[in-house]
Amino acid sequence: MSVCYLNGEFLNLKDAKISPLDRGFLFGDSIYEVFAAYDKKAFRIEEHLDRFYINLKEIKLTVNISRQELKNIIELVIQKNDLSNQIIYLQISRGYEEIRNHVPDIKSESTIFICSFPLKNLPNHNSDKVKISLREDFRWGKSNIKSTSLLANVLYKIQGNEENLDEIILHDNGYITEGAVSNVFCVKNKKVLTPSLQNNILPGVTRSVIIDIVKKLNIPLAESRISVEDLKNADEVWITNTTKGILLVSEIDQIKVFREDMIFKEVQEKFIQETLA
Ligand code: PDD
Repeated sequence: MSVCYLNGEFLNLKDAKISPLDRGFLFGDSIYEVFAAYDKKAFRIEEHLDRFYINLKEIKLTVNISRQELKNIIELVIQKNDLSNQIIYLQISRGYEEIRNHVPDIKSESTIFICSFPLKNLPNHNSDKVKISLREDFRWGKSNIKSTSLLANVLYKIQGNEENLDEIILHDNGYITEGAVSNVFCVKNKKVLTPSLQNNILPGVTRSVIIDIVKKLNIPLAESRISVEDLKNADEVWITNTTKGILLVSEIDQIKVFREDMIFKEVQEKFIQETLA
C-alpha cells in the first residue's frame, strides 16, 4: 500500500482524488519533479527543489507552502512508504477553478501532490544494450521547464516502444537537444561533450552530477553544440536521468556506437559511489 500526500493530507494512493476541473488536468498547467530516494535518503533534493522553485517562478505560480515545509512533507512521504529505494513524484498545479478559463483566477489554490513509486533498478555496473533513435525535436521552445504538458515526450516514447527502442534522442536544426526523458553526453577523442543549457533542454539534475564527476576526474568537458553527425561518430554516447542514472548507448538507429577504452566505466563507478554516499 503506497502513501501519498495531497493538499494537506497523507492518504492511500488509491484514495487520492482531484477535480477534473483542476488546471493541471484541463491545461497541463502544472510542473513536476522526479527524484530518487536511495536507502530512504532523497538524492540531491536541494538541486531538485532549486529547479522546482525556478520553474514555479517561470510559470508565475505561487504556492502557500514554504520550501522547508515541502521538504518535510517529502521526507514524510519517503518514511511512510516501505521501500528503501523509491522514486518520488511531486506535482503542483495552479489548482481547481469552477469555470474553465485560460486566464487563471488569482484566488485559486494550487494542488500539491507527492507520491512514491518503486525505484526499479539501483544504479549498477551493468552496461545494458541501450538502443536509441534520432528524431526531429518538435517540442515547444521552453523545454527547460519541467512541465507536465508532456504530450510530445509521450508520443516519442510510444514510437520508441513500438520500435523496441530504449530512448529517442532529439535534434533541432541538426543539433542534438536531449532525449525524450533524458539528457545526452558523448565522448570524442577523450573529451566529454554535452549540449549546453542554451539548447532548449531540461537542466537535468543527473546531468549536473555527471558534469561534476567528469570535472573531478580531470577529463576535458565542454557544454556545447553537438551536431547529429558528431553524435553518430562519437566514441561513446551516454544518456542520464533520475530513474535510470547513467546508461551507455550501444546502438544509434541500428548502427553500433564505436567504443574505445571507455570513459563511461570510470564515470559510472563514481556515480554509483555518489548514490551510496
Ligand atoms: N525526466 N530531459 C527530459 C526531457 C526529462 O524528462 C528528464 C527526466 C531529463 C533528466 O533530468 P533528471 O536528471 O533531473 O532526471 C532530461 C524524468 C525522469 C521523468 O519525466 O520521469
